[in-house]
Amino acid sequence: MDGKTGGRIMEQQEQPGQPGQPGRPGLQGQGEWRRSAWCGELRASDAGREVVLNGWVAHRRDHGGLIFIDLRDRSGLVQVVFNPQTDPEAFRTAETLRLEYVVSVAGQVRHRSPGMENPKLPTGEIEVAGHTLTVLSTSKTPPFVLDRAPSVDENLRLRYRYLDLRRPEMQRNLVLRHRLAQKTREFLNARGFLEIETPMLTRSTPEGARDFLVPSRLSPGTFYALPQSPQLFKQLLMVSGFERYYQIARCFRDEDLRADRQPEFTQIDIEMSFVEREDVMQLGEELIATLLGEVNVRVELPLRRITYGEAMLRYGSDKPDLRFGLEIQDVSQLFATSGFQVFARAVASGGVVRALVLPGGSDLSRRELDQLVELAPRWGARGLVWMLAEAEELRSPIAKYLGAGEEAALRKQLSVQPGDLICLMAGPEKETAIAMGRLRLFLAEKKNLIPPGRWELVWVVDFPLLEWNEEERRLEAVHHPFTSPRQEDVDLLATEPLRVRANAYDLVLNGVELGGGSIRNHRREVQERVFEALGISPEEARAKFGFLLEALEYGAPPHGGIAFGFDRLVMLLAGEETIRDVIAFPKTQSGADPLTGAPAAVSAAQLGELHIIPEVPVA
Ligand code: AMO
Repeated sequence: MDGKTGGRIMEQQEQPGQPGQPGRPGLQGQGEWRRSAWCGELRASDAGREVVLNGWVAHRRDHGGLIFIDLRDRSGLVQVVFNPQTDPEAFRTAETLRLEYVVSVAGQVRHRSPGMENPKLPTGEIEVAGHTLTVLSTSKTPPFVLDRAPSVDENLRLRYRYLDLRRPEMQRNLVLRHRLAQKTREFLNARGFLEIETPMLTRSTPEGARDFLVPSRLSPGTFYALPQSPQLFKQLLMVSGFERYYQIARCFRDEDLRADRQPEFTQIDIEMSFVEREDVMQLGEELIATLLGEVNVRVELPLRRITYGEAMLRYGSDKPDLRFGLEIQDVSQLFATSGFQVFARAVASGGVVRALVLPGGSDLSRRELDQLVELAPRWGARGLVWMLAEAEELRSPIAKYLGAGEEAALRKQLSVQPGDLICLMAGPEKETAIAMGRLRLFLAEKKNLIPPGRWELVWVVDFPLLEWNEEERRLEAVHHPFTSPRQEDVDLLATEPLRVRANAYDLVLNGVELGGGSIRNHRREVQERVFEALGISPEEARAKFGFLLEALEYGAPPHGGIAFGFDRLVMLLAGEETIRDVIAFPKTQSGADPLTGAPAAVSAAQLGELHIIPEVPVA
């Protein structure tokens, strides 16, 4: 375990006991196998010390008549040497060792011979001369070499997750996860928050995903839903007067999986009473700054903010990655009367034209430019036009349609320099913004524009409360239906619902949505108006959320909160690319667990009992 994330496993080592005392560490005899020291914590200052180590054989080398093993436990690795001259019995046992055998070694810590030190290993200055060796457990040959796991098919790693988790990287990730959870509790406890559990078997909480359902045996034909978040319960806890609640809560969402999405995941879930947006944001950013501090990342508070509108315009995303520039610009006006009809028509029909300048981007080959054009539809764009800025003119497939004035205006507005690449897209505003955002990320990656070791946190505020779902042809909540509209926008709910701004805030770290929250509707009347705007009839609202509406009539305090994606936070702080690497037993992209075989078929008898198929009478 490195100093950054591990630290000593126990300050107070299990103290070596009197030899021969049962159950206490000792140094004598084969039966005395209990640990007196951790492998990874031995240092030059331990030279001369007698130790008993427990662990797994990570490597074995036979060299110069000696057998060397790297012994691994939770704390790290140490080299153990067996010498046939001095300790023939231990040596004979060492000859039987294979990878991943579990052993106990008693021996003496000593300096390595000069020139044999390994500066890459914290224990690299010393080794243990093993004089007693006990095999506690043998191992079949592992299905993959643990050192090479990153290049191994992930299904295989997950099928043998208990082996995969032996890798120091995975151990480090889960240790970090543990520490961040503890720090979160410490931080919130110190501020008067109570950790309260909420049910797993409950009713649907709409967070925009599908529910996982659990059939009820006792009430035929009815189902529990696993919570998409503890949202409604945390609000009820505010009505109950707990004032400050938190939970490191498991949530379940049946949605398409990605690198930063799992069907079950963990939130740091927070709710507070008698607060406004600023109070929750302040608490949230202090918590995140504290957690970043755990990996020695310092952030300056208060964090910067950007409105949703600005984020979509400049970065083409509601989770902008601010580690690099490459800002998107609106050039709709410039093309409104263009000779290039595609752009002019887009503007005339209420759409936009957006541009992005990649400085020095004219070094992209024709093939690379064609690739951008090919990718554009996958990003949701109708097309992509490129222009290469030369000293005098813009070289582009659409150059012939542009007037000289148009070119000059474009160069001026975008401050184009010779050698730059300009990418343009036109179409409906949101679709075009998002496609430009994807292009921006693609180019940043391709051109290595993201500086390593940079941490960019930003609050995104002033989200719209509602958005239009074209597929389902209805309005839906951008966050969830319990988010309150900005006070000054409430009256727009009935007239111009899409213009209503939400009292909501998202926290974004390096382009990843880390958390989101809002001030809630604590008055039944406002909550009902939001339901109405969402097209939820009073009957439906009563049937689904009647308990909440009712609770709002019994003295609900103004309240609000936030939830942070804990897996995502650990992923970012661990420097991993996927949340699967910071979850002990995650699911694959298809929602399966190759280790246990879940999800699995169940017997007809079970299905009968649950009233999913007619029950088979017992003969
Ligand atoms: P939201 O839906 O934004 O808000 O979720 C909060 C945070 O949880 C994380 N997250 C996920 N992490 C991994 N896998 C997933 N499938 C997944 N879905 C979400 C994200 C996200 O920002 N009840 C509200 C919070 C509130 O209003 O207080 C809620 O759940 O990091």
